[in-house]
Amino acid sequence: MSGSYRIVVIGGDGIGPEVTDAALSVLDAAERRFDFRTERTALPWSAQAYVQGLRVTPEMIEPLRAYDAILLGAIGHPDAPRGLPEHDIIFGLRRGLDLYVNLRPIVLYDDRLTPLRDRTTKDIDFIVVRENTEDVYGRPIARTGEGTPDEAVTSEMIFTRRGTERIVRYAFELARRRPRRHLALVDKSNALRLQEIYRSALADLAREFPDVETDAMYVDAASMWMVLHPERFDVIVTTNLFGDIISDLGAAVVGGLGSGASGNIHPGKVSVFEPIHGSAPKYAGQGVASPVGAIGAIALMLEHLGEGAAAKAVDGALREGFRTGRIKGLDAGSGRTMETADAVARSVREGAVA
Ligand code: IPM
Ligand code: MG
Repeated sequence: MSGSYRIVVIGGDGIGPEVTDAALSVLDAAERRFDFRTERTALPWSAQAYVQGLRVTPEMIEPLRAYDAILLGAIGHPDAPRGLPEHDIIFGLRRGLDLYVNLRPIVLYDDRLTPLRDRTTKDIDFIVVRENTEDVYGRPIARTGEGTPDEAVTSEMIFTRRGTERIVRYAFELARRRPRRHLALVDKSNALRLQEIYRSALADLAREFPDVETDAMYVDAASMWMVLHPERFDVIVTTNLFGDIISDLGAAVVGGLGSGASGNIHPGKVSVFEPIHGSAPKYAGQGVASPVGAIGAIALMLEHLGEGAAAKAVDGALREGFRTGRIKGLDAGSGRTMETADAVARSVREGAVA
């Protein structure tokens, strides 16, 4: 029996709507080939709409639970107050829908794309599992002594046992399904002693997953290893803040932010899929943004929906696009958005293999 899924599409700002449209044309191709359907509902949420007065409240997020998945383009506009639309929309979705996993595959599609010398596609293929609901992210701020030299701002950094265990467990389960079965915890528990809670979750769960090899390292060292020896990594589990930073570094070693896709996931529940690049206002409306990140988000979404074969086909089509040179690069301007998407869609229809 073929599936039918209800999808919400939030194009957002800047290049967001263009790359999501392009990615949806790849989804069309996957639907035809793999015999499933999606019903799509667009929402006009964006930082630009925020400037015009639209507020996305928790009450508006709640009904999204009735859908199967959400595809998000990008949120961010130069006229919007810094951080506020992100707070309402991005953190609103992540926290409101309890999307505790932020999954960010770091995959080198083609040897030519990495800035690292002598590295090939065999060396860089890991996945960052970023905790997505806790930490110091998006917390209220307390301010004292305003206007004086003693002014101080403070914000809480929170890790709960439940929050820590569920993300570390997710990472162990993911590592178990991958050939190398290796899991590295990235934290800063030498300076932020509260992150010891991650070390203890890793040690506790390691007993349940004796088949997964574990490692733990500080985030500064991990950043160095990612550049010097990216082959060392398979699955990384880390906190919200560090996951944000190392996933951009990871994207850089595979050719830039244009490649990255991410899933904001609560297993078995409605989840949000997005490219990791921003709204790039400079390139908006020109049809030159790379849709590769957004297409990668479609692959992650398909996997989440249980359409594994379609997910593999989309991923395989991206790889084939780079191999054959039909995808020319990841930077804006390296190709036309729709031409890249058409090439990928064609290869999905024609059945490229991963
Ligand atoms: C990301 C982004 C967001 C984050 C910003 C836009 C708030 O950088 O998804 O990585 O920090 O989580
Ligand atoms: Mg980021």
